[in-house]
Amino acid sequence: MKKKMVVACLLVICALGVALVSAQDGVKKKRPLPHDYGKVVINNFSERANMAPVVFDHWLHRSKYTCRLCHVDLAFGMKAGSTGIRAADNMKGYYCGTCHNGNMAIENRKVFESCAKTYSTVDERKRCDRCHSQGKSVNRQYDFYAYTEKFPKERFGNGIDWEKAEATGQIKLIDYIEGVSIKKSSLAVQEDFALEPKVKGMPDIIFSHKKHTVWNGCEVCHPEIFVGVKKGSTTYSMVEIFQGKYCGVCHVSVAFPLLDCQRCHTKQVG
Ligand code: HEC
Ligand code: HEC
Ligand code: HEC
Ligand code: HEC
Ligand code: HEC
Ligand code: HEC
Repeated sequence: MKKKMVVACLLVICALGVALVSAQDGVKKKRPLPHDYGKVVINNFSERANMAPVVFDHWLHRSKYTCRLCHVDLAFGMKAGSTGIRAADNMKGYYCGTCHNGNMAIENRKVFESCAKTYSTVDERKRCDRCHSQGKSVNRQYDFYAYTEKFPKERFGNGIDWEKAEATGQIKLIDYIEGVSIKKSSLAVQEDFALEPKVKGMPDIIFSHKKHTVWNGCEVCHPEIFVGVKKGSTTYSMVEIFQGKYCGVCHVSVAFPLLDCQRCHTKQVG
């Protein structure tokens, strides 16, 4: 009997999955390759200033820093292009320039500097190209496949189990930058809980506050994405998630993608 339930619910997942994924495909282009998942192209001002658009890779940055650090303390928006970063901001030490200031140390190196008013030498030009790289073939310092070779694997997105990589200490996330970060909130980590999908037979979702807080603190989600005063106070559907709202804010483009139904709908029914 139990087995039948599982089979039935897998069928439901498949049928809905095809419908939902093709709905998403209508908006999204083809599935990105592992090294392109989480890539953001920023081009509000670059091309107008005769510079190539900027390419920002989440996989590299998220292996070193928490989401919270960038999206709360450094105030990057969670939609491509939404921050409106200017060269002048970077030069003053904001946004990319918080770290890319030619001064911050990482593994005994200085993180390369971001924008400048002009560039005169070939080396300076090469530095610009490292970020203003869209459409150019630029020599990278980090090769995705070599860098992530030993990371635990998953099926979709970057093909990496980021949660595990962090939990096992393979990556160590920086969550604080002296003089920039806002004083840490002292809110207690909340209990994990199950979210019940509205369709009968669909496996419940185990939502882990603990695991999410590692990356997001509290402030990435509350109050903007989920009001979060009481469980059940925000109502939403899978369709809205696919539209990039609620869980979909992160799980469409940076955290593991929605295609991986079973990674959320984990709790067995019946
Ligand atoms: C080093 C800083 C940094 C870190 C760490 C970081 N992000 Fe981002 N994120 C950015 C920047 C920069 C953008 C682009 C903003 C813009 O274009 O205005 C961005 C954009 C996004 C977007 C929108 C993507 C799109 O295609 O529209 C999402 C979603 C997002 N980040 C989620 C996350 C999550 C989840 C994490 C942690 C796993 C994370 N970010 C870690 C800097 C960061
Ligand atoms: C919180 C700090 C931080 C912020 C903010 C940040 N970066 Fe980085 N970025 C790093 C570090 C650290 C590295 C690795 C440098 C090294 O190992 O020498 C890096 C590397 C890079 C690289 C080089 C990749 C390679 O393989 O050569 C690019 C390109 C890059 N960042 C673009 C950006 C852009 C664009 C922004 C802003 C939209 C940005 N970064 C914001 C910390 C940051
Ligand atoms: C660490 C990454 C990074 C590096 C290195 C970098 N830039 Fe930028 N730059 C950006 C980002 C992000 C933007 C905003 C992109 C957009 O919206 O088009 C930008 C925008 C610009 C703009 C657009 C005009 C404006 O007012 O914002 C110019 C011009 C510019 N950069 C010049 C340079 C020059 C010259 C260099 C090399 C000396 C350079 N940048 C190196 C990240 C970088
Ligand atoms: C990844 C997003 C995310 C993060 C990060 C997060 N939460 Fe939540 N939180 C949720 C969701 C989803 C709910 C359920 C909302 C609903 O059902 O309306 C929730 C619910 C809550 C509730 C109501 C619980 C209940 O049983 O009624 C509280 C309180 C809360 N969160 C506090 C926190 C605190 C404190 C932190 C940081 C330590 C945090 N949250 C981090 C997503 C998040
Ligand atoms: C603010 C961004 C954000 C939001 C919103 C968010 N997540 Fe996540 N979630 C992450 C990140 C980052 C990870 C780490 C794994 C990864 O990036 O692939 C993660 C991991 C997970 C995991 C795997 C870890 C575990 O618990 O076993 C599950 C399941 C999950 N999320 C479900 C959800 C659900 C359900 C919601 C909505 C109620 C949600 N997430 C909302 C960012 C987010
Ligand atoms: C990031 C986590 C996550 C992933 C991945 C995910 N779901 Fe969901 N899903 C949810 C949450 C949370 C709800 C509960 C919404 C609510 O409160 O009813 C839900 C609800 C549903 C429902 C109930 C009806 C509805 O619209 O709310 C169906 C059916 C469903 N999901 C199907 C799928 C299928 C099929 C996939 C894979 C293509 C999938 N889900 C992937 C988090 C996820």
